[in-house]
Amino acid sequence: MPVPHLRLVADPEALAQAAADAFLEHGNQAIARRGRFTVVLSGGSTPKRLYQLLAQPDRRARIDWSRIDFFWGDERCVPPDHEQSNYGMAWKELLQGLQLDPARIHRLRGEDPDPAAAARSYQMDIADALGISADDDPPTFDLVFLGMGPDGHTASLFPHTQALQPTIHWVVPNYVPKFQAHRLTMTPRILNRARAIMFLVGGADKADVLQEVLEGPLETDRLPSQLIQSDEGNLTWIVDRMAAAKLRNR
Ligand code: 6PG
Repeated sequence: MPVPHLRLVADPEALAQAAADAFLEHGNQAIARRGRFTVVLSGGSTPKRLYQLLAQPDRRARIDWSRIDFFWGDERCVPPDHEQSNYGMAWKELLQGLQLDPARIHRLRGEDPDPAAAARSYQMDIADALGISADDDPPTFDLVFLGMGPDGHTASLFPHTQALQPTIHWVVPNYVPKFQAHRLTMTPRILNRARAIMFLVGGADKADVLQEVLEGPLETDRLPSQLIQSDEGNLTWIVDRMAAAKLRNR
């Protein structure tokens, strides 16, 4: 399996700057080559500053937003206007100001009462958006952003949960006992096919788990972020100095 690329940056602001520049670079390359940019956004708090930077006039002017299809790697089972919604945060910090065609914003319907149905529906939405059958192999997104929790989860692939099981599905529901909450998440099967995958990891609370994930033995049930291995050999970890503090090879 190709070795992931590690990019060390100074602090959370530099992390967001690097992510914003990568978004523009991958986006403009995809638009130039294929006429569109399909990007999977991550959840949690780390992407907030990324979205704010992309919304600022200097960066906002550097890509044709009408050519972008937005997807999410996971969602909490809450309404889109809920403070916990990953879509809601991206809408508030970036998307609402861009006058986008709503048909190009593909959110997971966390509000649906049946998470399994919502997962199936999202797989159909992805297939429709990318012009393939939902029964085929997963599509290839141009760029996937991911975060990682201090427990080694990514997207909503949490340690020792059902969603870690091998599956033909691209999107699955996942009950997370520690939160006593349902989630919706893309699976490694679809995430790993992306042309580029970027983890954005910052902060001292991630240092221990980052060292285990990158330098320790493969223990994917305990460290689900290890399930993310780029089929294209294009997996990059952008990490700040606090998160990288325990790494031996940096
Ligand atoms: C979610 C995210 C999750 C997140 C990590 C890191 O829905 O919570 O998708 O995987 O990326 O928990 O979160 P922070 O960026 O807040 O540290």
